[in-house]
Amino acid sequence: MSLTKKQQDQIDYQLENHKHSRYEVDIVLAEGQILEKFIVLPDVLRPDKLIASFLSSWLFYNNGLYQDKTVIDMGCGSGIQGIVCGIYGAKKVIFSDIATEPIDNTKENIKNYKLETKTEVYQGDLFENIKEKADLIIFNHPFWPINPTEQKVSISILGGVEVIHNFFDSVGNYLNQGGIIIMPYFHLAGEENDPGIQAPKHGLGVEVAFRAEVSKTLHTGLMSIYKIKK
Ligand SMILES: C[S@@+](CC[C@H](N)C(=O)[O-])C[C@H]1O[C@@H](n2cnc3c(N)ncnc32)[C@H](O)[C@@H]1O
Repeated sequence: MSLTKKQQDQIDYQLENHKHSRYEVDIVLAEGQILEKFIVLPDVLRPDKLIASFLSSWLFYNNGLYQDKTVIDMGCGSGIQGIVCGIYGAKKVIFSDIATEPIDNTKENIKNYKLETKTEVYQGDLFENIKEKADLIIFNHPFWPINPTEQKVSISILGGVEVIHNFFDSVGNYLNQGGIIIMPYFHLAGEENDPGIQAPKHGLGVEVAFRAEVSKTLHTGLMSIYKIKK
């Protein structure tokens, strides 16, 4: 896969801006709805700087999708998406990530927001260690179609071209009847990891739930949030 200069510059820019130390940030989901002192550890995707933050707001506004239901937050990173679901009505949230730092970060935020009794956290490749089905599965997947570099955090944004297909191959086994998959996308990353283009190849139905030109510190351009069904 060869990238355009604009794509490579964007990747370099994102990686350069992920050399952060541990920090705490207030994440504004909506007016008066703030996740105070949200923890972000080194080598974890910064949810306040990317379209992850639009997804967390969207999940806040669309809490009917997970009210009293079970959610899987796949590739949980800091835990932002599942934490929002846990706070705003989910019955249970299961978090999964392949890397150690996101698992530690998610556990800290679970404690921070007192969600211990309704959450489980598993480290593994996609659904490797998940034994249960969910009504809503969220995956803010690595968008860029090249392999990770030696910089640890790169696994958060550089997914190669296999992660999305492995996810779509197995996700059906973890979805309750009528269940929904939610995936965001930053379109500058191209078509290979665009769920709107790739999900139908796995027999899944896709609709655009949200699409807009956005401007967030590290992501400026067209983004979508897709609603995907079996
Ligand atoms: C774009 S980040 C999203 C983080 C967080 N969910 C958010 O919205 O800010 C993608 C996450 O997927 C994880 N990941 C990458 N490949 C994975 C795999 N095969 N299985 C599980 N998690 C994976 C990365 O470690 C990273 O935390």
